[in-house]
Amino acid sequence: ADPVRRCISTSRSPQPPAFVFDIDGVLLRGETVLEPTRNAFRILHGENVFNRKIPYIFLTNGGGVSEETRCTNLSKQLGFNVPINRYIQSHTILKSVVHRFHDKHVLVLGGRGNTLKSVANSYGFRKVYTPLDILAWNHAIYPFYDLTEQEKLTHRTYKDLSKVKFHAILVFHDPRNWGLDIQVMCDILRGNGSLAEPTSDSSANDVEVIFCNPDLLWKNEWEGPRLGQGGFRKAWEGVWSNVKMGQKDPVVTRFGKPTKETYRFAAEILREVGNELDIELRVGSNDDLGKFGRSASNIYMIGDNPESDIAGANLAWWNSILVHTGVYNPRHRSSLPRSKTPTFEAKDVEEAVRLAIHEEI
Ligand code: G3P
Ligand code: MG
Repeated sequence: ADPVRRCISTSRSPQPPAFVFDIDGVLLRGETVLEPTRNAFRILHGENVFNRKIPYIFLTNGGGVSEETRCTNLSKQLGFNVPINRYIQSHTILKSVVHRFHDKHVLVLGGRGNTLKSVANSYGFRKVYTPLDILAWNHAIYPFYDLTEQEKLTHRTYKDLSKVKFHAILVFHDPRNWGLDIQVMCDILRGNGSLAEPTSDSSANDVEVIFCNPDLLWKNEWEGPRLGQGGFRKAWEGVWSNVKMGQKDPVVTRFGKPTKETYRFAAEILREVGNELDIELRVGSNDDLGKFGRSASNIYMIGDNPESDIAGANLAWWNSILVHTGVYNPRHRSSLPRSKTPTFEAKDVEEAVRLAIHEEI
């Protein structure tokens, strides 16, 4: 039977929906492409009732490599070209704050080896250090880890870092050595930016800490969800609260899903894609919700984590579709608070795309 035609108002011709795709637990599990993913994108590339391409972008709390590298890998995994202007990862938004730290010393955490130092440089950060650089300078700062021969080669041995004044600690991606990273973070914070002696001055802490991914948990090929950068932040908070000796807490800035900043950043990127395809984006709002009984937005966020994907989409007045292929377990539905309850649920990403299209025709 023809799908029920559901126009929000007769004054508007049905516009195709626009999609924001989470990646881990929706399209992929680790390196494994979930089966429904391919059909979902077949529909978006033209095999749909609108007979036209439908706008979509990728919004992940993942990262750790350059956007170029990730898009190259994702294109191979998904079997079609993923343009870089449609891909947003956890630390992409740091391009919008680099002007504040352009020529300041910053500590960058996460990822493997020097990969994120290169990414930070490509964003415009000029004076970038990693905890391994600091360990290579003075092994006593954290005697429980010995650099590998490869790390000794790739981490410059600075003559003296005791005079460096760090202005920010940027947690780009999930740290690999929580012990070393927490130790160095706490040393810098207790020294108000310096690795030298802890400061006794409790009046201010000039160092800003920026986290890019709030995820406590995320989904890869392992049966149960894995600890994410949110777990690292909790560990640092616990240690810092016990080692600070009167020093003030740093300013902590959080980006990533579900923060408003990340969703605003994504909405602008999606709007540009919609313009390319001559498709109007309707960003829902409070009064629309009152008038139409559900968000008047034609933006659909498809995610697997109520804490990040659904909470953020709901806050942005988008439609949210929670799939059952990742972190979320449908048996726990009753415990979802309203703020993290999705507009719709679907078993997988293909069903989610079909559901959204049905909603918009
Ligand atoms: O590190 C990746 C993880 O935190 C979640 O990624 O794609 O589900 O937002 P994603
Ligand atoms: Mg996910």
